[in-house]
Order: sequence, then C-alpha cells, then structure tokens
Amino acid sequence: MKNSTLIKLNTENIDEAVEYTAKVLLAGGIAVIPTETVYGIAAPINNSQGIIDIFKAKGRPSDNPLIVHISNKNQIKKIVTYINPLSEKLIEAFFPGPLTIIFDAKKELDRRITAGLDTVAIRMPENKFTLKLIDKIGPIAAPSANISGKPSGTTIDDIIEELNGRVDIFIDDGNALHGIESTVINPLVQPPQILRKGSITKENIEKVIGNVSFPEKFSSTISPGTRYKHYAPSVETTYLKKIEHIDSFNIILSDLAKTRKLGIISFGTPIEIFNENIILKDLSPDPKIATKKLFNTLRELDRIVEEIIILPLPDYSDLWLSIDDRLERGANKVINSF
Ligand code: TXA
Ligand code: MG
Repeated sequence: MKNSTLIKLNTENIDEAVEYTAKVLLAGGIAVIPTETVYGIAAPINNSQGIIDIFKAKGRPSDNPLIVHISNKNQIKKIVTYINPLSEKLIEAFFPGPLTIIFDAKKELDRRITAGLDTVAIRMPENKFTLKLIDKIGPIAAPSANISGKPSGTTIDDIIEELNGRVDIFIDDGNALHGIESTVINPLVQPPQILRKGSITKENIEKVIGNVSFPEKFSSTISPGTRYKHYAPSVETTYLKKIEHIDSFNIILSDLAKTRKLGIISFGTPIEIFNENIILKDLSPDPKIATKKLFNTLRELDRIVEEIIILPLPDYSDLWLSIDDRLERGANKVINSF
C-alpha cells in the first residue's frame, strides 16, 4: 500500500504542486495527473520502477502499451526514428490536444512502455499543470487512471475510490474537459488508420490529411488495447442501439423494475417512466456534453443500481461514433434493434 497524497490545484499552488510531483516521480513514484481528455497515471519514461508500478496499479496486462506524453515538439525527435510528412501535419494541427500519433520508436526507449512493440504512441496533452510537469522532468508515460477494464477516470473522487493506496499522488484539477480518451491514429500505413475513436473525429482529421480509415474490425493485433474488455460497469449493462417498439419496451421496463433497481441512460430523449426503482440519467443531445458525463454516470449508477440500460444515441456519426464505441465495449449485451 502506498500513502497517497491529494493535492487540489488552484491558481496559487500550481508551481508548488509541479515541484512536489516532479520530486516524487523522479524518485520512482507514480501520480494521477489531469489531462483534457481523462486523468492519467504518470511516470517518467526513463524511470523503470515507475513504469512497472503503473502496470501494477492498474492491473494492466503487460502487452498493452502506454502513451508517451510530451510538452513540446522537440521532445518527439528524441523518442522516434523519423517524423513523416503526414505526422508533421497532424502535429501542427492537433498538438496540444486529444490526438495520439503512432511513430517508429528509437531503440533506447524502454520497451515496457511500448509493450515490446517497435512503435510508440505520443500525444501532447492540453493541461497547464501536466505541461509544466513535463517541461520540468521530460516526457511521461500515462495510461488512463482506472483499474484495467473499468471506465476511465474523469473526476478525482471516482479515481480515489478506485486507486487509493496504489499511487503516491492524486492531482485534482476538476472534471476532465472532454471526458473521453484521445483518438489514436497510425499514419505509418496507407491510408492512415484510426486505431481508437476519441475526442477528435475522423472528419476533423480528414480536413488536415485527407482520407483515413478504420481498421476492418478493431483487431487486436493492430492496437493491443482494443482486445481487452473496457469501460465496463460491474452490474449487468445492456446497450440498446435502436428502439422500434416503444410500447413493449416500456412494458418490459416496468416489469423489470418490479424486482430490481434499474439505471437508465438517455441522450436528450428521456422516456416517461414514473417508478421509484428506475433512476433516469439524461446526459445530453449534444455529444460534447454527453462524453463529459458518460464515464462518471456509468460509475455512479454502478454503485446504486442492479442493472444499467443505455438507450439509443440520437445519431451514429461524428463524435457519437466514439461514444458508441465505448458503449459497445462496456456493455455485456448490445441489442441492435428492439
Ligand atoms: O486520452 C488519453 O489518451 C488518455 C490520457 C491519460 O492521455 N490515455 C489513455 O491511455 O487513454 P490508455 O493507456 O488507457 O490507452 C492507450 C491506447 C491503448 O488502446 C493502446 O493499445 C494504444 O493506445 N497504444 C499505445 N501504444 C500503441 C502502439 N505502439 N501501437 C498501437 N496502439 C498503441
Ligand atoms: Mg485506458
């Protein structure tokens, strides 16, 4: 068990917090740090103890690689063998921000970070504290702050509940701005492939580099992380992608609610149910707001209900596709049409 310290950031203490976190990380510790997407668990890329402890803290399989976080573009050259013209464009357009780019890694880079691969995932987060921290101690490796398989941590309370005693420091910088992880793109193949859908959409990327693709099936050999169960609440979770028979749906719902507490997640089209066993969480018809609340709502319902039912998204394009991806992975049951 580690003795975890909590630091709540304010306008006055940021430099002091950076100073303290830097000292702990350089000595082999690990820290939960804020980014604009979700919180991460960080260690310097050249501190093997810290890297090992990140995998331990998350219970993460050692064959699932971590993302390296940088604070300025010059740091990329020290980690990768070559920056191709497409990557140059992506860096120019999206750094700092929620895009992670795959490069060929120099052989000096610790292969624990890349899970043995000769490629490395790099991004520049847009968070003042974390950029200052990296300026001070150099690039850090940071996966999302959650136990492996659970929804990513977007509020410090959710993260403390899960990781208390497993990390040295928690930095609280409020609710994560985007609430969904970065988009991962591989520009080493033609056409470039989006390996993980995220905050930046296919449309956003295509405006900058032209045609990009999704892998045929989000195959495990291409992005190791997509092979594992992810974003999953502990209680039974059903994702309904389309409801055609709303009347029979309502009847089944009332029936279920006779014997168990149900949590319903909707996206701007709340259903009319009046039953004390049903807790309705209407996120938003705006995908930017819905992503912000999604993981926190799943965690909240997971604590208080026996079953979660997720209603159809208003749309299956653009940023909604990233939400759809997380729900498909997190649910035990996906029903395409009811
Ligand atoms: O928004 C984010 O990206 C957050 C914050 C903390 O920055 N981080 C994050 O890290 O989501 P993590 O470890 O939970 O997810 C990293 C994803 C995994 O799906 C992993 O397989 C993929 O990136 N990845 C990492 N290195 C890779 C590589 N060399 N090739 C292909 N995929 C890679
Ligand atoms: Mg993760």
